[in-house]
Amino acid sequence: MNKAQQSLIDSIGGTPMVKLQELSDIYNTNVYAKLESSNPGLSVKDRTVLNMIEHAEKEGKLEKGVSTLVEATSGNTGFSLAMICAIKGYKCVVCVKDKASTEKINAIKALGAKVVLCPSGVKADNPRSYYRTAETLSKLIPDAYYINQNYNLNNLGAHYATTGPEIWEQTEGKITHFISSASTGGTISGISKFLKEKNEDIDVTAVDSEGSVLKHFHETGEYDTSLKRKTMLEGVGKDIIPPNVLMDNIDRFIQISDKESVKNILHLAKKEGIMAGGSCGATIEGLKEIAPGLNKNHTVVLLFSDHGSKYLSKFYDFDWQKENGYSNEKEDELTTVINEFYFNNNNK
Ligand SMILES: Cc1ncc(COP(=O)(O)O)c(C=O)c1O
Repeated sequence: MNKAQQSLIDSIGGTPMVKLQELSDIYNTNVYAKLESSNPGLSVKDRTVLNMIEHAEKEGKLEKGVSTLVEATSGNTGFSLAMICAIKGYKCVVCVKDKASTEKINAIKALGAKVVLCPSGVKADNPRSYYRTAETLSKLIPDAYYINQNYNLNNLGAHYATTGPEIWEQTEGKITHFISSASTGGTISGISKFLKEKNEDIDVTAVDSEGSVLKHFHETGEYDTSLKRKTMLEGVGKDIIPPNVLMDNIDRFIQISDKESVKNILHLAKKEGIMAGGSCGATIEGLKEIAPGLNKNHTVVLLFSDHGSKYLSKFYDFDWQKENGYSNEKEDELTTVINEFYFNNNNK
């Protein structure tokens, strides 16, 4: 047994990696998922936020009971921030895009943080965008500190120091391919920097959303804002080029469809018992794209960023599934038995 920990902060990191049997069989290779949902905040962002706060503390920028930490986030960073602020005694303001799931917003509030909802469909430089709102509020609020996960390189530093080494150890150095979604880019860049220093041949695929500016920038060096498009997935793709995306460490960007990614997680839950967030389904789409080049000697690691319980009112809600064309409730033998039982019982 592990010893009792002093706070939830001590249980951040050290997440499990599990083999995905069905995908390994289909593609005749070895596919593993690194389950970041096992962090106490149920996402990869616990690591990032902890590292950014600890660096700010070391630099003397924060004072317990006085400082207010402000951030713009798709939700997971907000939850991790609210959780760590509650433990450490900082005030917290989180600016969230209005497409964030209700669970994420309520959970951030439950941890004592203030939530500011910002429109999803506006450009990054619009004063109402979540970036500008966070920036403005951090100037208005006394003793505020803007975490700024897009530009704060302690974001990727967290994954270079912890997630990358864990993946290397858990695969006993056998990893040949790594796939992760990219938004701020901190996760994929920190991990791939560490892995490529160990073995420069490790192939790194970033999963991007349709309408994101990242893939186009990687391929052409151009920042094209006309590409912007609203998507359903949270934490996949970006409308700015954050310095946390280390473009040279990424071999390719693949743009995936929201629809297929959601189908993947609904199937995964039933096949492997893993209830994963939407961006995890996006990494499975990435796997499908690179699959023709894979064989038995390869070890592929998919970074699963968060837990499906963050999307109970969205991807895992049956009404939502029907409205969005995912009616996956099939009539099978079990349903027939249950329906007959109800019918007979209610008609006695
Ligand atoms: C669910 C989810 N997946 C993936 C990511 C991408 O991580 P990163 O910002 O490190 O690129 C995020 C980031 O917010 C996220 O919330």
